[in-house]
Amino acid sequence: MKELKFETVFKIFDTIHELPEDEQILIHKASSVLPKAYAPYSHFHVGAAILLENGKIVTGTNQENASYPIGLCAERIALAAASSIHPDLKIKTIAVTIKNFNKPTLEPVSPCGTCRQVLLEKEQQSGEAIKILLKGEGEKIYVLSSVSSLLPLSFGSKDLK
Ligand code: THU
Repeated sequence: MKELKFETVFKIFDTIHELPEDEQILIHKASSVLPKAYAPYSHFHVGAAILLENGKIVTGTNQENASYPIGLCAERIALAAASSIHPDLKIKTIAVTIKNFNKPTLEPVSPCGTCRQVLLEKEQQSGEAIKILLKGEGEKIYVLSSVSSLLPLSFGSKDLK
């Protein structure tokens, strides 16, 4: 018998000012689209901003539906937009911010399982790590250096070949 262990390593910065300028801009961009979220059911607004390899930024917000399960997370909206508009450009970084109208949510939230799988697809497609920046309503920022660390023992294209 052999036992394997996975570790998720992430950095916690006390304020956005500790980050490089391009990452600060990306987080601000994600926050700036929060009012575009369509979340009349959960009242939980999410904004995502994707930095592409040529410096362009593509954003997305969560879009809910009266048929609850078909609502889409901000991350997947932004990823689909980036891939549709710029299919040949690699994704460098994604920033995700939130505004919870139900209760103050100071800590960052982490992408859901489905979004992790979609993020992983893009990371494996490009062959380069996608950095993840997470911000709640407080000052703290969580930084993860790759998607694979968020989704260990994953299913992917390798399993189909
Ligand atoms: N949501 C996101 O957009 N991203 C996440 O990382 C977590 C959850 C959305 C889905 C739904 O519209 C609302 O937040 C509450 O789950």
